[in-house]
Amino acid sequence: MEKRIVDPNEQLNEEDAELSLRPEYLREYIGQAEAKEMMEVYIKAALKRNEALDHVLLYGPPGLGKTTLAQIIANELDVNIKVISGPSVERSGDLAAVLSTLEEGDVLFIDEIHRLPRYVEEVLYSAMEDYVLDIMVGKDSQARSIRVDLPPFTLIGATTRFGDLSAPLRDRFGVVLRLEYYTIDELKTIIERTSSVYNTKIDSEAALELAMRSRGTPRIANRLFRRVRDFADVKNDGVISLDICKEALSKLGIDNNGLDYTDYRYLKAIIETFKGGPVGVESLSATISEEVTTIEDVYEPYLLQEGYIKRSNRGRIATEKAYQQLGIKYYSGMFK
Ligand SMILES: Nc1ncnc2c1ncn2[C@@H]1O[C@H](COP(=O)(O)OP(=O)(O)OP(=O)(O)O)[C@@H](O)[C@H]1O
Ligand SMILES: [Mg+2]
Repeated sequence: MEKRIVDPNEQLNEEDAELSLRPEYLREYIGQAEAKEMMEVYIKAALKRNEALDHVLLYGPPGLGKTTLAQIIANELDVNIKVISGPSVERSGDLAAVLSTLEEGDVLFIDEIHRLPRYVEEVLYSAMEDYVLDIMVGKDSQARSIRVDLPPFTLIGATTRFGDLSAPLRDRFGVVLRLEYYTIDELKTIIERTSSVYNTKIDSEAALELAMRSRGTPRIANRLFRRVRDFADVKNDGVISLDICKEALSKLGIDNNGLDYTDYRYLKAIIETFKGGPVGVESLSATISEEVTTIEDVYEPYLLQEGYIKRSNRGRIATEKAYQQLGIKYYSGMFK
């Protein structure tokens, strides 16, 4: 299937590009005022007391800057950061091995922490709470548990699915921060920053236009920026003007509000196949051949936040705004 340019989960071989765009310090991190303010206080307090920062859980939709913020926290604390990802840790020994390399005050970043297998997760409980590792060695009647001390460290967990985290794990985080979708102003600032990192000239109206179509998500903003810059290089001596921007975005199939053909397919399914809803996510998944988790984690959060759909206990409902966006006449639920 074709890669979806506005899917923040889609890997489009842009890791290098993203790396060069990552802000390194808190003051360069745009938006997320609340999270930033809290982190500033906690980091300063930890530095002042010369203690490890409390464990931090970052959650929110993909592409909002969780990994970036974790790196920044380690930078601000001036400690090492070790990065692992939930689904890649298969055995508790793998996690124990990483934990045992940590030095005092270090950050261990676990991306997609909700996907750690439960028996691996259990190793974290005592590590987080008491900085000790309880590991089983030997087999059968020889089996015994040995206890290894760890230096004080900071676990930063990132997840798109807060609800999937087990209660014992959730409770062990002293700091829980939810990252929010960015405002258009904030995205405009991010795009202008990206533009200057790339040494590209972008008109203010063009930056605004890109910001409006980036679904509140920096990863998408930067990705659209790169595509639009290609058009500008070929057609406009590299200057990103409003016209070039609009032309490129329309060729990329992104509408005035940042919705693409997948969103249209999703909304059309609710409106046309299921008469506006309510419809359960499983039926929608079968109709548009997309996985339930992709629908829930990637498509829906933005459509919900922008009011194109509502969720009820009987399923998803398309709102009047969705009908308008698709140019379909709205009947206000006479038969519902
Ligand atoms: N606050 C910010 N200010 C400036 N740029 C940002 C900010 N947040 C994110 N970015 C940019 O967006 C890109 C994506 O951010 P990041 O990889 O941290 O997202 P993420 O939340 O970890 O996503 P995922 O959930 O997919 O892992 C970064 O490379 C960075 O360039
Ligand atoms: Mg990430």
